[in-house]
Amino acid sequence: MNIVDRIWKSSLGKKYLMGLTGAALVVFLIGHLAGNLQVFGPPELINGYAYFLKSKPGLLWGARLGLLACVGLHIVSAITLAQLNSAARPQAYATNGAHGASTASKYMLPMGSIIAAFIVYHLAHFTAALPAVNGVGDFTKLTTTLHGETVPDVYAMMVLGLQVPWVCLIYLVAQGLLFMHLGHGLSSMFQSLGFRDHVWWPRIRLFAQVTSIALLVGYSVIPIAIYLRVVGNDYVEKKKYALKAATKKPAPAFVTVPGKEAK
Ligand code: HEM
Repeated sequence: MNIVDRIWKSSLGKKYLMGLTGAALVVFLIGHLAGNLQVFGPPELINGYAYFLKSKPGLLWGARLGLLACVGLHIVSAITLAQLNSAARPQAYATNGAHGASTASKYMLPMGSIIAAFIVYHLAHFTAALPAVNGVGDFTKLTTTLHGETVPDVYAMMVLGLQVPWVCLIYLVAQGLLFMHLGHGLSSMFQSLGFRDHVWWPRIRLFAQVTSIALLVGYSVIPIAIYLRVVGNDYVEKKKYALKAATKKPAPAFVTVPGKEAK
């Protein structure tokens, strides 16, 4: 059996894999948040950043594929570990609070599934910009000029996208679940790596709590500020009408019914 097989077939190996892919996803979340917080600056800031990323297709696709691999491995190792655990313990615990399991720890798999569903929605919303899921219109029609070039207006897309009440709610619910998932996931990652003595454990718990709270606040403040019209409202007012006009279906052509011609 080679090393990859051995890691994959042991439950400890799967725990490591889940922890390492989870850690890579947290690094992505921190970077993604830093990028998104630029929405609090002038529109050119985040538009320039998005344009820079798209102008480096090798880097962008490398990061996208790496991210996809991490998400895939994280999910598969979580599901197989849950199956191994339930096979090892066929009878459910008699009490709910058995072995000090927190609410978050008991619902890691369902919470993770909802977060995965959010990611699919989020990609359809902003990356694929599908008009059917945004309640606004065709985001690909939103463009602006940057250094004399016509570029996608990511700032207007974010503001118009998150001003929609039900969309804002989806984002906020997802951030809440992500916060609970991370609070438990981060500390259990260190636990799998063997850091569970009385010296490290309180520090690890604190680190997990501070990181998940910082991500919760950082990610929630964006949809809240946009929804409350604190960010970008004046900027998108004009864009809104231009977008409506661009998305509008052409009026049906006049059809003359034979025998009913206008007199
Ligand atoms: C307030 C919350 C968030 C906002 C405003 C936001 C904004 C965005 C935007 C604007 C894009 C598209 C960039 C573009 O293609 O031009 C994007 C892509 C993405 N976001 Fe988010 N995001 C948020 C939360 C999240 C969360 C919580 C996750 C993960 C759990 C996430 C994962 C992703 C991924 C995987 C992509 C695709 C990256 C790519 O296409 O290269 N986002 N986000």
